[in-house]
Amino acid sequence: MKHAISVKQFQDKSLLDKLFKSASKYQALNPKDYPKPLANKVVSTLFYEPSTRTRLSFESAVQHVGGNIISTESAGQFSSAAKGETIEDTIRIIESYADAIVIRHPLVGSAELAAKVSSVPIINAGDGAGEHPTQALLDLYTIQKSKGSVDGLKIGLVGDLLYGRTVHSLIQLLKLYKPTLYFLAPTELQLSKKYQILLEEAGVKFEILTSWDSILPELDVIYMTRIQKERFKSIKDYEAVKNSFVLNKSAQKKLSNNAIVMHPLPRVNEIPGTFDDDPRAIYFQQARNGLYLRMALLEYIFKG
Ligand code: NCD
Repeated sequence: MKHAISVKQFQDKSLLDKLFKSASKYQALNPKDYPKPLANKVVSTLFYEPSTRTRLSFESAVQHVGGNIISTESAGQFSSAAKGETIEDTIRIIESYADAIVIRHPLVGSAELAAKVSSVPIINAGDGAGEHPTQALLDLYTIQKSKGSVDGLKIGLVGDLLYGRTVHSLIQLLKLYKPTLYFLAPTELQLSKKYQILLEEAGVKFEILTSWDSILPELDVIYMTRIQKERFKSIKDYEAVKNSFVLNKSAQKKLSNNAIVMHPLPRVNEIPGTFDDDPRAIYFQQARNGLYLRMALLEYIFKG
């Protein structure tokens, strides 16, 4: 594997097992004992959209495994994109300074465009409402760590399933196993047909629901997401759906004691801060897992 553009490249369970084993290894090690597979390598982070976890965990991961980082913060504003440079030209320049490029861009398919012209590995850190493959890897890693196995789990994916790229990527990994999926969203934000067809073809059982009352007590995993305000055409449309699914006190009561609550973060108000100390809330550990998973992925890309 050279680039990491889509979860379609991670459809081999033995590859996933290998990556997760490697992430577990990093998780168990004392940072002073981390191997340095990226020694003398430079990785560039090129983010045209806001990011906290993805960019900083990649940058931390690169440094932990011996590499160096060059970065342009807010690339849309501060890179030559502001002067009209195309993604392709920008990539052609950065590839002569860096050994890999981590890119986040609002355009669906942007990472693929970058990969077409790049001689160094491109890692997709989110292409608009398209995909977010490294988030999906860390999400699956987190589910497996917490629950042992995905087979047989009842997993609820909640919130903005239309624009949420983390869900688009995660379901394409979950389809390799045998969970039952529940898509919980207002009708306007339901998972698009394209992804539903993928799941049908893979024989994954799923249900589309507009209310979670009946299913909450049965869920093993609940994957909350933020309504993706920046992808809406009008603020009025956003306002109409923004509070559709909130894990308030009454929803928390219905949720089983053994369930885990995940969220790629950032959250707006879909999970109240008062829930953070609940043992079912694992979203901060999930974010931490992103660091280990990204170290494992970098090692795999550079060392195989
Ligand atoms: C997500 C993203 O950027 O898609 N955040 C992340 O990378 N952890 C989710 C979001 O922005 O809602």
